[in-house]
Amino acid sequence: MIFYLNQQFNHLFNKQPLFYAAPGRVNLIGEHTDYNEGFVLPGAIDKCIYVAIAKNDRNSLNVLANQFNEHIEVKIDGLKPTGNWYTYLAGVMYHLKNQGSPVGGVDVIIDGDVPVGAGMSSSAAICCSFGLALNEIFCLGLTRMELALIGQKTEHTFAGVQCGIMDQFASLHGKAGNLMKLDCRSLEYEYIPFHFPDYKIVLVNSMVSHSLASTEYNVRRQQCEEGVRLMKGFLPSVKSLRDIPLNELKKHRVDLPQDVYLRCHYVISENERLLKGCELLKQGNIQGFGQLMYETHEGLSKEYSVSCEELDFLVQEAKPREGVAGARMMGGGFGGCTINLVKADKTENFEKVMKAKYRQRFKKNPEVYVMQIEEGARRIASNQ
Ligand code: GLA
Repeated sequence: MIFYLNQQFNHLFNKQPLFYAAPGRVNLIGEHTDYNEGFVLPGAIDKCIYVAIAKNDRNSLNVLANQFNEHIEVKIDGLKPTGNWYTYLAGVMYHLKNQGSPVGGVDVIIDGDVPVGAGMSSSAAICCSFGLALNEIFCLGLTRMELALIGQKTEHTFAGVQCGIMDQFASLHGKAGNLMKLDCRSLEYEYIPFHFPDYKIVLVNSMVSHSLASTEYNVRRQQCEEGVRLMKGFLPSVKSLRDIPLNELKKHRVDLPQDVYLRCHYVISENERLLKGCELLKQGNIQGFGQLMYETHEGLSKEYSVSCEELDFLVQEAKPREGVAGARMMGGGFGGCTINLVKADKTENFEKVMKAKYRQRFKKNPEVYVMQIEEGARRIASNQ
């Protein structure tokens, strides 16, 4: 990829670029908890967005996106949301500039192998690779956490998704072989080794692109906020769902609208599952962890209502298969992937059977990816 990008950049812009990569992420457990000040457990993956970049003297953000075969150039004083891939780069540049960072014009080629719309955070990976690149080439001195927050702000203001911090955090802080237990309230985190040589993390892509996701995602967030607002009436010190014990919520079932109650019930239970799950992983208990993944899926499907027929089918089909420890939908929902923990020697068969079953049922070919947990965003040498 870098070799090709180098040639292409030299040819197009007649100068030598620097290269940056930022990965997508998986999340083992802790879904829709990040914007509720809860915990998440992501890991950076071996699929990345790559940026080749050099300064220009036209004061513009000039970008060629290979995956879309599109070229867009806008003066950096006139950047605004565009409704396509360019919006993520525009947003990052805009917010850096807006907060007083001395950024200037750049020529960029962007490419990558993070599937788009598959719930593996390709948009966060764009923001993180570009943010890291600007931070280094203009010597901005921002921390990785500050860059993650710029990425999140970009999603909020340039893409209209009121997302949490998980994806951007994971892309920038990933460490090979490790998951990250992030406290989304304090932003403190701990690396938890994912050392199960007998198991693989396998994603099955439903190929349903989560287009509904952004509106529904924002609705879920509002419902959680509504739950907090109503529960504050009974427990004034509550600031987020994180602060409400499950038994307290249950006492007030009748005081909350049914859907708000269910959303809150899911989030509070999911936070508890995550804490339990981290202990199980530390004890090497992957079977126990897998059971929690099934519970998460139930919750996401029945209480949080962010699954779909295809994802439910994929989990149902995975569950009874030999060598499968756990399975659930992953990410925002309404499409994208399921995440499965599968015994290494059963992976090939799992892939074959899942593809056949899915094709038979939905007349669509799902993609299957066997993931590695890798390093987070980084600069890459041009000879790599
Ligand atoms: C998307 C968002 C994240 C998180 C997940 C659900 O990936 O970007 O912030 O909320 O959905 O866990």
